[in-house]
Amino acid sequence: MSNIRVLMIGDLVGPAGIKMFEKHIGSLKEKYKADAIIVNGENSADNGRGITPAIADHFFEMGVNVITTGNHIWAQKKIFPYIVSQPNLLRPANYPSKCPGSGSTIINIGAYKVAVVNLQGRVFMREQLDDPFKTIESLLQYLKHQTDIIFVDFHAETTAETAGIALFLDGQVSAVVGTHTHIQTADARVLPGGTAFMTDLGMGGSLNSMIGMKKDIMIHHLRTQMPVRFEVDLEPPYVMSGACIEVDTQTGQALSIEAIRVVDDQGLF
Ligand SMILES: [Fe+2]
Ligand SMILES: [Fe+2]
Repeated sequence: MSNIRVLMIGDLVGPAGIKMFEKHIGSLKEKYKADAIIVNGENSADNGRGITPAIADHFFEMGVNVITTGNHIWAQKKIFPYIVSQPNLLRPANYPSKCPGSGSTIINIGAYKVAVVNLQGRVFMREQLDDPFKTIESLLQYLKHQTDIIFVDFHAETTAETAGIALFLDGQVSAVVGTHTHIQTADARVLPGGTAFMTDLGMGGSLNSMIGMKKDIMIHHLRTQMPVRFEVDLEPPYVMSGACIEVDTQTGQALSIEAIRVVDDQGLF
């Protein structure tokens, strides 16, 4: 095995996202001959906010190697002690250092060490976080001593900030993919320095929802600006989105990145 292939799956929203993952990850893993799976689980709790220890354990039992997250990481309080004891559940690395958990991990895939980093953008995001450029710069000084195979999930709102991080890191990491907007972008490519890049992986959940949530509630909120409680949409059809990235294990450079989008018309509940 001189190349490795990694599936990266974008934000799975509530039970609809989890059911899509359960149903399709086996065949995707086979189709892409994937050696590892990284999934963004920040919306996988029943109400679409955060992740619980039971859901994280479920992902690991289904063969997920690393779970990344984002701004919803603290929505379920049970995750506070769990994230301390589970190094492969990440929170963005540029959260204040006093936050529980870590923003990077190193796993073994076959004979290779692979690093996964989670970062969050700052443009149009509520949280006041450390500079993600500075954070990854100092993290790389440590990680590069361990491995050149490095995957980055950049959880951000704007396309420009994600492109900025990707172009800044081009040639230093294997892949930079965005999450958080829940909308898959059509720009997957390998950058000139050998870093695979895609602005956003997209989401898993109800296809005709708004970011996985029931559209009527969200449209009401947009039209009235009244406070509402968003609810996860469970209606078919469903979508699951992500990318498959192939990396040369000798150099850590990406050989290819292919967008993945599975649509399923059948009811899952
Ligand atoms: Fe999300
Ligand atoms: Fe998010």
